[in-house]
Amino acid sequence: MRRWADASSALVRTRCKRRTYSSLQTQKQPTVDPQQHVHPRRDPAALVAPELDCLRQSLLSLLGSAHPGLDEIAKYYFLHPSKQMRPLLVLLFARATNGLGAGWREKRWAAECEGAGGRAEELDRPLARADVLNDWNPSMPDSTTSFESVFSLIPPSPRVVRPRMPAEFAFDAPGSPAPMLSDALLPTQRRLAQIVEMIHVASLLHDDVIDASALRRGAPSAPAAFGNKLAVLGGDFLLGRASTALSRLGDVEVVELIASVIANLVEGEILQMKDVYTPGLGLVATPAASRDAWSVYLKKTYLKTASLMAKGCRASVILGGGAQGEVWKEAAYAFGRNFGLAFQLVDDVLDYEAGEATLGKPGGADLQLGLATGPALYAWEEHPEMGPLILRKFEQAGDVELARSLVRRSSGVARTRALARAHSEKARELLQVLPESEARDALEVLTERVITRTW
Ligand code: FPP
Ligand code: MG
Repeated sequence: MRRWADASSALVRTRCKRRTYSSLQTQKQPTVDPQQHVHPRRDPAALVAPELDCLRQSLLSLLGSAHPGLDEIAKYYFLHPSKQMRPLLVLLFARATNGLGAGWREKRWAAECEGAGGRAEELDRPLARADVLNDWNPSMPDSTTSFESVFSLIPPSPRVVRPRMPAEFAFDAPGSPAPMLSDALLPTQRRLAQIVEMIHVASLLHDDVIDASALRRGAPSAPAAFGNKLAVLGGDFLLGRASTALSRLGDVEVVELIASVIANLVEGEILQMKDVYTPGLGLVATPAASRDAWSVYLKKTYLKTASLMAKGCRASVILGGGAQGEVWKEAAYAFGRNFGLAFQLVDDVLDYEAGEATLGKPGGADLQLGLATGPALYAWEEHPEMGPLILRKFEQAGDVELARSLVRRSSGVARTRALARAHSEKARELLQVLPESEARDALEVLTERVITRTW
């Protein structure tokens, strides 16, 4: 596995003499001590632990702003530890598929050849002139335009000519090695892991305003700490910075995919909101039957949770050279979609179970938000009196308590768990199209732990 990767790096150095090349192995990268190797069966995150450790730190520099208040809010949720599930999926899928796609050799070349756009430092470099882009980010290598005078015409900078890829890196070059898994993670894939986390955190900032949450991860939520307006603006700022970073990945298919996730998150949230007229999403009025309610619920679950995981995994494979007509990016999307659905279904179960078991208070916080998730929808099938409560979003006095008791007297929680398991098993089955690897093992373990929640 390593032999091919090393041979490829050597080729880059010998064939491209006029430019400086850096091998991915020699770039400043987190190092793994072989003595400390933890088998992915024990800890699925161990395989990419060094990358995950660095992720937050280097992410903070993407979020710097000359406005100190904005800076503080944007970074707020990154200061508390979290599972970083979405970056973990992106990085593991990269490790499980890099080297297999027709475009791998080209992507690898771009990650090593100066000026080709894929090296780590190039992902920090503005595409537009720094004074035009006016990032106002003191941590980034660009400058701030002065507003003390009128802006004059600035002579155009010389055209930047990108290096041409030597013919031998083309996927169909004569004598090219057979596709084989590579250990290398590309800088673009590391950056993608950061981008998906930024988008996730942006959505949490907005979500905590919508849900009026006082706490997140045991600390005051951003709206509680800074107020609603700044929490919303902080989320918007994160999205802006994530979009800039996304464009610098230089892959329009990935830009399209990840931009569509932002729209999906909003669509999912709207679908979940009370009394919203959304004919384009298939919800014209409040669903009148449990079957319609299920279809809205599952659609919302995909949009709100699974889309970022599915499209994040797919984008990771594309950045690793996965091409049209190959199974890799299809497997990534199908895996992420099933995994994401399982993840949210279990979250919805835990909303009932965790409250009772760990908080010593009745579960079903979602009911208080007017939300009928899997357990309540299954309970509707067994107790028709649940229907009116769901349709009026548990708004009348006593509705929440009655709904909670109906869920408890039904098999709703067990059936939601079983549905989550069906999706997680499908996700595991999909992994079988990938060659054996530690990353595949780690992904497999995640499909078990998404159910047991023993991260
Ligand atoms: C958490 O849900 C929230 C989400 C998974 C997505 C929220 C999406 C938006 C608010 C749309 C705006 C999106 C962007 C990108 C600005 P939850 O309330 O079920 O979970 P929680 O218990 O963690 O709050
Ligand atoms: Mg919430």
